[in-house]
Formats: sequence, structure tokens, C-alpha cells
Amino acid sequence: MTPVKYKIIDEIAVIEVSNPPVNAISADVRIGLLDALEVLSLKDDVAAIVITAPERTFLAGADIKEFGKKIDAPSLGQICDKIEKMNKITIASLHGTPLGGGLEVAMSAHYRIAAPKTKVGLPEVLLGILPGAGGTQRLPRLCGVSMALDMMITGKHVPIEEAFENGIIDEIAIDDKTIENGISYAKKIISQGLGRRPTSEITNKIQNKKDIEESISSAKATALKKYKNLFSPHAIIKCVEEGLNLDFDNAIKNERRLFNDCIESPQRQGLIHSFFAERAINKIPELQNGKSLEPKKIGVIGGGTMGTGISMAAMNAGFEVVMIEQNQDAIDKALKKITSTYDRSVRLGRMNSQQQNEIMNLFSGKTDISQLKDRDLVIEAVFENMDVKKEVFIKLNQICNQNCILASNTSYLDINEIAKVVDNPLRVIGLHFFSPANIMKLLEIVVADETSDDTVCTAFNLAKKMKKIPVRSGVCDGFIGNRILSKYLVATYHMVEDGASPFHIDRVLREFGCAMGVFQVIDLAGGDIGWATRKRKAPFRHKDDRYVEIADRVCERGWFGQKTSKGYYLYGEDVAFLTPNPEIEVICSDERKRVGIMPREFSDQEILDRYIAAMVFEGTKILQEKIALRPSDIDVVYTNGYGFPRWRGGPMKYADMIGLDKILDNINKFAKEDPRFWSPPLLLEELVKNNQNFDSLN
Ligand code: CAA
Repeated sequence: MTPVKYKIIDEIAVIEVSNPPVNAISADVRIGLLDALEVLSLKDDVAAIVITAPERTFLAGADIKEFGKKIDAPSLGQICDKIEKMNKITIASLHGTPLGGGLEVAMSAHYRIAAPKTKVGLPEVLLGILPGAGGTQRLPRLCGVSMALDMMITGKHVPIEEAFENGIIDEIAIDDKTIENGISYAKKIISQGLGRRPTSEITNKIQNKKDIEESISSAKATALKKYKNLFSPHAIIKCVEEGLNLDFDNAIKNERRLFNDCIESPQRQGLIHSFFAERAINKIPELQNGKSLEPKKIGVIGGGTMGTGISMAAMNAGFEVVMIEQNQDAIDKALKKITSTYDRSVRLGRMNSQQQNEIMNLFSGKTDISQLKDRDLVIEAVFENMDVKKEVFIKLNQICNQNCILASNTSYLDINEIAKVVDNPLRVIGLHFFSPANIMKLLEIVVADETSDDTVCTAFNLAKKMKKIPVRSGVCDGFIGNRILSKYLVATYHMVEDGASPFHIDRVLREFGCAMGVFQVIDLAGGDIGWATRKRKAPFRHKDDRYVEIADRVCERGWFGQKTSKGYYLYGEDVAFLTPNPEIEVICSDERKRVGIMPREFSDQEILDRYIAAMVFEGTKILQEKIALRPSDIDVVYTNGYGFPRWRGGPMKYADMIGLDKILDNINKFAKEDPRFWSPPLLLEELVKNNQNFDSLN
């Protein structure tokens, strides 16, 4: 059945597209649209054609699943061209999220009306591509070059009022009745005697050469500063700049050429993988079997960095929060931190003082843990020590009602062991927030052996309300993210002891696209955190494991990174300004001498190979043990919580792109020096043997 149908009411034809869930413009839709337009163009009794997609949203863009495939159907560019060149008046009636190709269809129509809460945008840049159906040429004609470039480079969704004020939309309807809106607007246009108005012929906003030059150079400066590693923002600017010096048809041909360059780029593969990976995280068995509770009152134990961040994340989502600390002084400190964060938001215009007061009213700090007795969900964020955590859970077991969900924010510890101290372990779960918890999107939801499906559903529901990206993880030391981190940290220290400089390693990782190098991250998180973990794990270390002591030497000096103004780097007022700590090289050299290692050179490529191999090694083990349900979940953890470049898709996708056989070869090569550390995971060997990749497990 075709997803496109039409009806004629009086002299107005209404085209309805129905391709759930978001009316993506798949091949069927394009074929259906072109057929309908061709038939309607021959009907003398039709004066105007209204294009609608009456379900959840107007067309939300091209069908992303089709990118990179050869498909025998008209291109979206051909459809847009047809809409604009129709011999009847064409009108797009919008609602929901007309994005990408959806907005390009709308801009090809002669007029646009939109329902009140509609948001429009050209977010192709977020997928590593550019608007490839005339959008780079039509948007500047409607709203001017400056706004068009801003929309296309950021991919932001623009509220309908702003779109209207800037000429993208001609009228805002009073309700959501998209078909009726389209028909009455068409009648109005006909009654006013208005005719066809092809967007390609609107030129008043692209006349001022000086303004255009300024907008283009400002966009170039922004793109260089913010999107240095990305391909498509620069291609978008090029498209606009070159297009404005060509006639419309040639500008469209030029856009197509640059669009194809983007489609060919590995960044497109990486970003589209990230798009679908972030949607797959919700596809877990517990969400199908369980039912979410609706927690309203939240308790947070601990007023340190994590506790205050978690409290703010909860308050931002409208939850009432009681924070427990040991004494009033600690509460006052936490309150000061929270207040200053919201003060800053007011200063930056992100909220007004009335909103700040409303949010602050959701918070209260107490020193008596029994104040948690009416809570629906309690998150503990106390010191990372099993005995301390168990003590807290024993108390919660006595104080809270049996339905209250008890969550631990531990980043490494065994949730199963914690769950043993409560009578009803069905309600115990790990909620591993990332610091700063009010900002970072990632939330690892750690499902213990006895955690109920309802508890998992409630945790995912909470994440949604807090606007987090939740990823399900099983229980193991460090869960998905920190377990992989532990592996590549060890691999990194091996390299340093063998002769690589920490600053060289950091540079290579930044050039690869990571937000920060490994040693910058250690300094940010605090060297003492890793030190405590290493001490905890020391009794379980095998005598033959290679253990590098460089990090301990750094910590013994009290150099914990940013918090002590000294770590691998030296920190002044501006922590973003990186000054390598010269004494680090001395420590490294002393340690190499102590253990009798003759330092050797490392190339950039070898550093990268070892870093990626260690990540993929541990990621594969995590899959083997079913700690992560699919490789793409690991990618989501790494792109959202650990600064791995999103445009590379995440470590598992990147491994697929460079070839698993290559990764396995490297691991086998490294295993010759250190078989205990590098002995290849079975699953990786099987995938290579069967000529499969990680994507085949997604
Ligand atoms: N193509 C294919 N599938 C799409 C899609 C698209 N453009 N947009 C969304 N979907 C799918 C999602 O994968 C998801 O599928 P599952 O249910 O199987 O997981 C489903 O639609 C619902 O999506 P969301 O969960 O994201 O729903 P939401 O309500 O939270 O958000 C949305 C809706 C705002 C439209 C969001 O999905 C979105 O931002 N989509 C992408 C929009 C976009 O980038 N459009 C431009 C495409 S590129 C283009 O158009 C190029 C061109 O110029 C030719």
C-alpha cells in the first residue's frame, strides 16, 4: 500500500503522507509523492495542492536507513524540484518536527503554514551530511544567509515563532489540525489572488554582498573553532558560498556534489551509527516486561560532587529532593554549591530568578537519615567503599518502605553484594551518574541479579525525565565504561613505562578526536580516585601481572590533578590551558631506570593502535560476558561519557570500520610481549573467523 494518498475537496487537493513512526521520506514516499504530483498537475479542477502528513509529525526528514544504499526511486531533490515547479499553488501544512528533507519539501512549496508548537530545522550536520535536496539554497533565500548558516551548522531545532519572524514560515495556525489548516490557508491565498511563489525566485535576502561575506566568514571562524575535525559543517558553508555565485540550477548541482562527498565520508557512517545506537538503548527485555513506578520524592545520600550533581539533575526534572549529610556544615557546603550553580544559570540567562526559586524550593538538606522514610527512590553517593555502602543500605532497609527503590551511584563496586544486605533486593539497582551529574548525559543503569523488571523500568523512566542517556549494564567491576577505562589505562601506563611520554599520548588522542587525552582525564577526575581503586584491587593482582608504579609515584607527591593544581599538568586560573608538569618526565625516567627498562620510541600510530586495541579487547569481553547487551551500547557509553569522538561512532563501530582482523592482528602482536594482558578474547577470534563484525551483533 502506498504511504501517499490524496483527496480533492472543492478546488483544493490534499496530499497525505503516512509512513510511521515519523514520516521519514523513504523511497515509497518519494515514489508516491511524485505520482500524486504528476496526476494532480493534469487536473484542471485543482487550483492548489496542500502537502500534509497528519499523524505524529510532518515529514521528519529523509529515511536515514537508506543512506549509502543504491535505491531505484526518484531522489528527494527531484521531488522538491517538482513541488516548486508545479503549475498549481503548493502549500505545506506543518506540525511536529519538519526536519531535514521534511523542511526541504516544505521550503519547495510556494507557501507554508505551521501548527503552534512546530519546530523546524536542518539537522543533517548531526549525521555528517548536508541538506541535499535544495535546502542549502532555499533556506538562505527565506531567512537570510546568517540565520541559515547558523541553523545548518548547529542543526538546531527552531521554534515556530522564530521561524515565522524570519520568513521561513508564512503563517502560524491556531491549532494542530494540519489538514484543515492547510485547506483554509489555501482558500485564503486563492481568495487574495496570490499565485505561485517559487522559493528559488525569492532573492531579496541574498542581495547584500557585504552582509553575506560577513556571515560566511563568521561561520567559517565558528566552524574552525568548534568543528575543526568535522567534514560536513565546512561543506555546508562551501555549498552556500559557492551556490550564491551560481544560478539556482547549478547551485543545486553543486550541492548534490558536496552532499555525495559527505555521504562517502566515514564520518557519516560514524554519526548515523551513533543516531541509531542512541535509539537502540531502550530496546531491552526489562522494558518490555516491566512497568514503571512514578517516583516523585527522591533522596540523595552524600553532598559531595556527585551528590550535589545528582540532586540538581533530579531538581531540574521537577523532583523533590531530600539530601542527607553527616553534619550541618556539609549540608551548607552542598547548598552553597547548588545555589552558585543556579546563580550562574540566571547570570547566563538560562533561567530567571523565579524559576531559580521554584527549583531551590524542591531541595532540603537534613542530617537525620530517617528523614528518607517517605521517599520513593533513594540514590546513595557516599564514599566509594563497600563497607560504607553496605552500612548505608542496612539503614535504608530499616527506614524506607519496602517499595522504595534503593540505588547506588557506585562506579565500580558489586551491586549484588550491596543488594544482599536488604530484605527486598528486587528494588536495588545501580545508577552510575557521570560527573558533573547535572550536566553529563550518560547514566549507566546497572541491573543486579535480583533487580526486578519494574525497578529497571523506573530507572529508565527517571533517566528520561532527567534527560539522560541511559545504558543498561550488567554487574562487573567498573560496569561498561570504567571497566574498559581500567584496561586502556593499564595499556597506557605500559606504553609510558616503555618510553612514551604522557603528553605525546594525550596529543595523539586529541588529534584522533577525543575530547581530552587520558592524562587530562585523570587530572580532571582526580588522581586519588584511581589510586584508591588500585589499592582496592592490589590484593587480587596476580604476581605475574605487569604493574606500572608511575601513577602511584605521582599520587604519593599529593599531585591529584586539577583539585591540587598539579598532576600530569600544572593548573592556573584557566584549567583549560595545558602546561605539562616537567617533573612527570623525571618520574617516568626514574621509574624506567628502577625497573630496568630501556625507553624506546613510539609512533603516533602505535599509540593509537594500542589504545584502540585495549578498548576493543575489553569491550569484546564485556559482550562475551553479556555485561553489555550489544556493541552499540558500548559505543553510546563511550561517545556520551568518555569523550570518544561521536563522528567515529564509538570504539566498537570504529573497530568495524578499520576491520576486526586488523585489531586482532594487533592484539596478537602485543600478546607476544605480554600474553597475560593481551591474550585475545574468544568472541573476537570467532567474529574474524566467520568474517563478521560487531554490527552483526547489534
Ligand atoms: N529516518 C529513519 N528513521 C527515523 C528517522 C529518519 N529520518 N527519524 C527517526 N527515525 C526513527 C527512529 O530510529 C526511531 O525508530 P525506533 O522506534 O525503531 O527506534 C523512531 O523513528 C522514533 O524516533 P525517536 O525515538 O527519535 O522519536 P522522538 O519523538 O524522540 O524524536 C525526531 C523524533 C525529532 C524526528 C527524531 O527522531 C529525529 O531527530 N530524527 C532525525 C531527524 C533528521 O535528522 N532528519 C534529517 C534526515 S537527513 C535528510 O533529510 C537529508 C536530506 O537532506 C536528503
